[in-house]
Amino acid sequence: MKQQTEITPISPVVSLLERDTTLLLQDLEYKASLIEKTIDALLPLPAGKSSRLFEAMRYATLGGGKRLRGYLVLSTAQLFDVPIEQAVRVAASVEMLHAYSLVHDDLPAMDNDDMRRGKPSTHRKFDEATAILAGDALQTMAFDILASDQTHPDDRVRVELIKSFADACGAYGMVGGQMIDMESEGCTLSLDETRHLHALKTGCLIRYAAESGAILGRSNSTLRQCIRSYGTHIGAAFQIADDILDVTATTKDLGKTVGKDDTSGKSTFVSLLNIEGARSEAVSLVEKAITDIASFGHAADRLRDLACYIINRKY
Ligand code: IPE
Ligand code: IPE
Ligand code: MG
Ligand code: MG
Ligand code: MG
Repeated sequence: MKQQTEITPISPVVSLLERDTTLLLQDLEYKASLIEKTIDALLPLPAGKSSRLFEAMRYATLGGGKRLRGYLVLSTAQLFDVPIEQAVRVAASVEMLHAYSLVHDDLPAMDNDDMRRGKPSTHRKFDEATAILAGDALQTMAFDILASDQTHPDDRVRVELIKSFADACGAYGMVGGQMIDMESEGCTLSLDETRHLHALKTGCLIRYAAESGAILGRSNSTLRQCIRSYGTHIGAAFQIADDILDVTATTKDLGKTVGKDDTSGKSTFVSLLNIEGARSEAVSLVEKAITDIASFGHAADRLRDLACYIINRKY
């Protein structure tokens, strides 16, 4: 799969909020369908007593979600001419890990959310034990996919993917962030504490998704650092947008119950800076992300579109 090569000027930062996303949305739809097929093939439904587990894993991962993390993997991998057959396995692995995080995030012991991706959350559709196990198994399978030589023939590349993924998802990354999120309910965090919380609970996985394309493509350290910085900035902007949507969107559009952050006493950018302040922080992060990938020229146009889309999206 080759990067679309149409020449469009790199939009000036001032038009960030009006950037045309037509090409991005086409590319996103195409790549999301590749990811969907890959996850489907990786999760066949077995006969026997464990079939309920696989049903729940399929329910949590298939037929929904924007696939932004998987899209990041595929699009950064494209910059380094990584074969699509390899990159799509990493994209599926990231989306499985993300789905596990959502299944657990929705549990009564955490955010206690009944709706996800426009349907009952996994513990509501099945039961809590099944949802916990499905999340556990999705997480393990995500790492198993990376360990396979179908993902990359060079075992050093595979180990690097696995190590970066583990760092992004574990106690020093997403899970650590989820702990801070739970511990902070009902407290007012400072702006810097909120930035740190966001960086861990959401930013680390998004940054890894971007960086994994560079790892697969054995990028030099300079370009890898550009991609890493881009991922860090859009990861932070992404969670601010999620917090804004929690107060501005409808449950129908979002596919999950809105207004929960306020009722649960979560510390968000909106609670600290109001909507306009939160939006301006997100815009400045997207400006930084766009600058981060300047050296890739027009080959990175869709990644620039994505950075803008992250803060302009309606769901
Ligand atoms: C929601 O992520 C959870 C957060 C980290 C804020 P997404 O908004 O990417 O969820 P899906 O995958 O599109 O459902
Ligand atoms: C979820 O953040 C972050 C992870 C799942 C790691 P939120 O709790 O804000 O996500 P939503 O709003 O439920 O999707
Ligand atoms: Mg949460
Ligand atoms: Mg939640
Ligand atoms: Mg949220």
